[in-house]
Amino acid sequence: MDLHGKGVVVTGAGRGIGEALARAFHARGARVVLADLAGAGDVATTLVGAIGLDADVSTEEGNRLLVEQAIAALGQIDLFFANAGVGIGGDVLETPEDEWDLSFAVNVHAHRWAAKYLLPGWLDRGDGYFCSTASAAGLLVQIGSGPYTLTKRAAVAFAEYLAVTYGDAGVKVSCLCPQGVNTQMLHAGDDAESGGNVVKSAGEVLEPDDVAEAVCRTIDAETFFVLPHPEVAGYMQLKATDPDRWLGGMRKLQRTVLGR
Ligand SMILES: NC(=O)c1ccc[n+]([C@@H]2O[C@H](COP(=O)([O-])OP(=O)(O)OC[C@H]3O[C@@H](n4cnc5c(N)ncnc54)[C@H](O)[C@@H]3O)[C@@H](O)[C@H]2O)c1
Repeated sequence: MDLHGKGVVVTGAGRGIGEALARAFHARGARVVLADLAGAGDVATTLVGAIGLDADVSTEEGNRLLVEQAIAALGQIDLFFANAGVGIGGDVLETPEDEWDLSFAVNVHAHRWAAKYLLPGWLDRGDGYFCSTASAAGLLVQIGSGPYTLTKRAAVAFAEYLAVTYGDAGVKVSCLCPQGVNTQMLHAGDDAESGGNVVKSAGEVLEPDDVAEAVCRTIDAETFFVLPHPEVAGYMQLKATDPDRWLGGMRKLQRTVLGR
């Protein structure tokens, strides 16, 4: 898809990967709506013609309103990027239920709620593009975090479901699955037990702008996965061909990084 002149919405655009995506799309001539709990307006003021909206995508109503307000601002939404995410929760024995609920609401349900309000217009037009930020954790496992592993796996599954179900009707889908990216989420709780430290030791930590460039190349090509860390494709291959060896390797990484 050529982004020039297209109406684009990015959630979680107040900082981090979402901000970098919004800036990259704007630089390619897209008309961009940036949405976040807070801070999207501050970023939008630095991008000529961009609009910032406060939006909470952890509820169906928040997504419905966002789609409605973005259509009012843009005329139509050509590309919706469900990027907002939370990296909360740890071991299954310790994670409180409210952290599971919020993880599923933001990392998974937000994607299907957005799609629910986008699809009718896209199916009428026979055209639309849904992108989501999952994670390499959604293809593999997030060592130390049950909620992140489950919700990111579900986000990948939902993107695949959309691509299969609506691809022939003109809906394009891409799914971003990075390992470490240098954002606030990666550095939250920089301690020995944090998921961020596991991710940092698993491979190169990329800058958000590099990830956004990889996303733009994928949108140009209209292909499904965005894997800014190319080694992730190799891990997926190993997992598919020799799952026990892959699980053993993941346990070894856990022992090395978490000492258990
Ligand atoms: N940083 C990494 O290493 C990494 C790796 C893989 C995937 N991801 C994913 O990338 C995405 C972006 O994360 P990031 O790294 O830029 O982290 P970040 O914490 O800097 O940004 C996340 C953004 O999502 C917003 N958000 C959270 N809950 C929201 C809600 N209910 N409604 C609206 N916005 C909400 C936050 O306010 C924040 O601006 C997330 O989905 C994350 O899981 C990050």
